[in-house]
Amino acid sequence: MIKEKRIEEFEKMAFGIFVHWGLYSQMGRGEWIMHQDRIPKEQYRKLQSTFTAEDFDGTILARLAKKAGAKYMVLTTRHHEGFSLYDTRGLSDYDVMHSPAGRDLIAEYVQACRKEGLVPFFYHTTLDWYQPSFENDFDAYLDYLYQSVEILCTQYGKIGGLWFDGNWSRPQADWKLDRLYGMIRRYQPDAMIINNTGLDDRGRVSHREVDSVTFEQGMPALRDQNGKYVASEMCMTMNDHWGYGKGDFHYKSPGECIRTLCLCRKAGANLLLNIGPMGQGAIPEMSEALALCIGEWMNLFGEAIYTGKPAGIQGERDDFGLAGDEGSVYLFVFDLGISGNENVTVGKRGSRLATFSGIHQKIKKIQWMDNGQELSFMQDPEQGMLTLHATGFDYGCQYVVRIAKGSIA
Ligand code: GLC
Repeated sequence: MIKEKRIEEFEKMAFGIFVHWGLYSQMGRGEWIMHQDRIPKEQYRKLQSTFTAEDFDGTILARLAKKAGAKYMVLTTRHHEGFSLYDTRGLSDYDVMHSPAGRDLIAEYVQACRKEGLVPFFYHTTLDWYQPSFENDFDAYLDYLYQSVEILCTQYGKIGGLWFDGNWSRPQADWKLDRLYGMIRRYQPDAMIINNTGLDDRGRVSHREVDSVTFEQGMPALRDQNGKYVASEMCMTMNDHWGYGKGDFHYKSPGECIRTLCLCRKAGANLLLNIGPMGQGAIPEMSEALALCIGEWMNLFGEAIYTGKPAGIQGERDDFGLAGDEGSVYLFVFDLGISGNENVTVGKRGSRLATFSGIHQKIKKIQWMDNGQELSFMQDPEQGMLTLHATGFDYGCQYVVRIAKGSIA
C-alpha cells in the first residue's frame, strides 16, 4: 500500500509537543473554563485586555521541545474560546493584535520552530463558543472558519500540518470538509490533515483527506490499513488538563511518559505530549522538568524511537521489537531490575530472560543502546524465536524501558 510522503515524514518524527495556550491560561483552570463555569462572553473577553504574553518566548519553548527529543510541535492557534493567537487580518477583533500583547504569536512560534529545527503544526478549533454565527448562522460560521484557516495556510510559510478539533460537537452537521481540506491541499500540499475524533471515538478516519487518526488520552492499537494508509497519533496531557491548571498536581511521572511513548511506537503511532503554559506564556516548571527527563532518555534511545518500525516482533507482556534501518532490530525490554546490593535496590532485581517471537533473520550481535554492553542470546531463526539475557541496570540507573540493538548477520 502506498504511504504518502507527508505521512511517512510524520511517522518518522515520532514524538511531538502539544501546546495549549489561550486567554483561559490566565485563569489557570483549564481550557474549558468558559464553558464549565458558563462565563458570559462579555465577562470572559475581559481576559483579552490583560493578555500581555510578556513571558512567552518561542525560542525557549522550541528549545525545550527539542531537548525533550520532539521533532514537531502543535500549538493552539485558536481554541474553543474563539480567541486567535494570530493576526486575523481584519476577520475579527478577538485576536492577539487587539490585546496588550499586540504581536502575532503564531509568527513567533513558527520562526522559533524553524530556527530550532522543529516542524510547526497548527491546532485549530472548529467548535467556537464566541463567534455568534456558530450558533445562529452555521454557513456564515463555516466561511469564517475557512478564511481563518486560509490565513494560517498562506501567511506563515510551509507548515507541518493542521490539527482540527471540535467536529465532534456537531456530529450531524455538514462541515463542508471537501472545501476546507481542498484549500489546505492547494496551499500546503505537504501538510498533514488531522481531525481529532475525541475521547469517545478514537482512531476513526473521519474523512478521506485525513492523514492521521487521533487517540486522545488513549493507547493506540496497530491499524488494519485499507484504502489509503493513515498514520496514528496519541495525544496525552502531562497532568489532567490541556490548558494550564494551577491546582492540578496530578502529573504523570517521566517513567509513565517513557513507557507510553514506547507503547505508541509499538503500535506504529506518534506521541503528542502536552504542555499548558501559564497565563502570560511561561512554562510551568514541572512540565519543563518532565520534558527534560524524557529528553535524557531520548538521548540514549531516541534512534530506536525515530527509526524503528513495527515488524511483528513480540515479546512477553509489554516487551516488543521494531525493525530498524539497514538490517537492525531494536528490542524493547520493560520492567528490568537494578543489579545492585539487595539491601538497597528496590523492585525487581537484576537480570532476566526476555524472549521474542517474529525474528526470522539471523542476528550476529546484540548490545544495550545505553552503554554498549554486548548481550548473550539464543536464537532459532526458523521458529522466529530469540531469547535475550537482559542484564539489569547498573546500580545508579533505572531507564524504565531499556532497548537493545541487534545487527543482522
Ligand atoms: C478535546 C478538548 C480539548 C483539547 C483536545 C486535545 O477534544 O475539547 O480541550 O484541546 O481535545 O486533544
